[in-house]
Amino acid sequence: KPLVFSGVQPTGNLHLGNYLGAIRRFVLLQDSHDCIYCVVDMHAITVWQDPVELMRATREVTAAFLAAGIDPKKHIVFNQSRVMQHAELAWVFNCVARMGWLNRMTQFKEKAGKDRENASVGLFAYPTLMAADILVYRATHVPVGDDQKQHLELTRDIAQKFNNDYSSRIADLDVGVEMMMGDERVNGFFPLTEPLIEGPAPRVMSLRDGSKKMSKSEPSDLSRINLTDDAETISKKIRKAKTDPDGLPSDVEGLKGRPEAENLVTIYAALAESTKERVLGEFGGQQFSAFKPALAELAVARLAPIANEMRRISADQAYVDGVLREGGERASVIAEATMKTVRSILGLVSS
Ligand code: TYM
Repeated sequence: KPLVFSGVQPTGNLHLGNYLGAIRRFVLLQDSHDCIYCVVDMHAITVWQDPVELMRATREVTAAFLAAGIDPKKHIVFNQSRVMQHAELAWVFNCVARMGWLNRMTQFKEKAGKDRENASVGLFAYPTLMAADILVYRATHVPVGDDQKQHLELTRDIAQKFNNDYSSRIADLDVGVEMMMGDERVNGFFPLTEPLIEGPAPRVMSLRDGSKKMSKSEPSDLSRINLTDDAETISKKIRKAKTDPDGLPSDVEGLKGRPEAENLVTIYAALAESTKERVLGEFGGQQFSAFKPALAELAVARLAPIANEMRRISADQAYVDGVLREGGERASVIAEATMKTVRSILGLVSS
């Protein structure tokens, strides 16, 4: 049975990239799938976090999930640290994954920077915890932005190696499910999870530099639209967004080699639930001085209701904490059932 899992870190401000690449798609998937959405606070602490700020951000991401339209009664919304089985399975995966695999992770290289000796061990092992998040529920589908692709490939590699290393034990205990691996039919315990990197904007770029993704950690706040920005701030950031001197092309071909123009058109199309073709059909030939106000108006119309709802929900901290508590309890039941089997597959005495 298909099961969706995804996570968002409670670090800094949520931005338009997080919304279009992930949260908006979490909302769309919930009509057709069972979904588990997690605020990954244990991933956040792989780099130093101020404790009070971490609590605030955890509740804010939760409020954003709810404000965007995720239904915490039908689906599960919780924060990662409440369900200790994530950490337990991450340890098991630390023993399955190879140093060489983790050494190739580009996100670690970017985040650790030059001073790799000084990066936390947790930052290096970040992807094994992510694999554990997903596989402790044996989730089959993971909606994420394009930047998480490599981590999801690693998740599949870990699942495959686990299934392979313990194949006879999985067969003896009769806890496997049939699955296809290439052309081969195998019996595995963990599914080979499918990334869902789709939708109109899997990679929203910085408003200041079309070659960099929009990111929480970019120092310039002008580079991103935060979900909590007010109308005036959104308009200002779009007005100041970098563009080239030409006007908008009349077709998608004309966006080639113009990353800033392409980014703004992509954002418009995603917010309007339209396509780049149609947006260029309307605005092709016009100057950015005409397009930017239209984009600002659309962004405000789409984001202001979410920001207002986030504020309303955040005001009731007891409600937000209740959602996380109840979600954590429901998640624990599934996670513990998986871990019981994992312990017995591994030969960890627990009776
Ligand atoms: P995080 O917190 O950095 O980002 C949350 C989600 O937003 C997407 N995203 C973007 N999408 C489009 N354009 C952008 N500029 C952009 N920036 C961010 C991310 O791809 C992500 O989907 N490692 C994950 C969190 C995580 C997770 C998981 C995800 C932990 N465990 C298990 C899926 C499954 C992360 O740091 O996301």
